[in-house]
Amino acid sequence: MDAVRQTTPDQDLIRLALAARAKAHAPYSGFAVGAAVRDRGGRLHAGCNVENAAYPEGICAETAALAAMVLAGGREVVEVVVAGGGEAALTPCGGCRQRLRELGGPGLLVHAVDRDGRCLASHTLAELLPYAFGPDHLGDKSTP
Ligand code: THU
Repeated sequence: MDAVRQTTPDQDLIRLALAARAKAHAPYSGFAVGAAVRDRGGRLHAGCNVENAAYPEGICAETAALAAMVLAGGREVVEVVVAGGGEAALTPCGGCRQRLRELGGPGLLVHAVDRDGRCLASHTLAELLPYAFGPDHLGDKSTP
């Protein structure tokens, strides 16, 4: 996937994502992923993928990083770095895009970096998840 914009991710965020990737539990796929998120208050949080012998129960690095943010009291994510090992830019899976939508706005920047921390692509959440369903829709309840 081509980079759609030239933006330099926060260097600390990159370092944290790479360090998280080194801790991934990915014995089934062999595909280690690390993610780091910056919250609205400037704090950084990280997560790695944690796979499970019951395959569908594994969780993605982005999900783990968002859970760490929420646990630390963060409620809004403003920048994300996802670190993969391949040549292709690693963008979040569909489920993680929806989780990012829960805690981030359409302008949220999501960067993909390689195993050396080089930025391969940067996208906004609106690009990754257009016409997203989000918390605002629930304020629009209509009685059946
Ligand atoms: N994975 C992530 O952690 N984040 C992504 O953005 C894509 C995929 C994980 C899930 C699974 O443990 C492994 O990578 C292979 O799909």
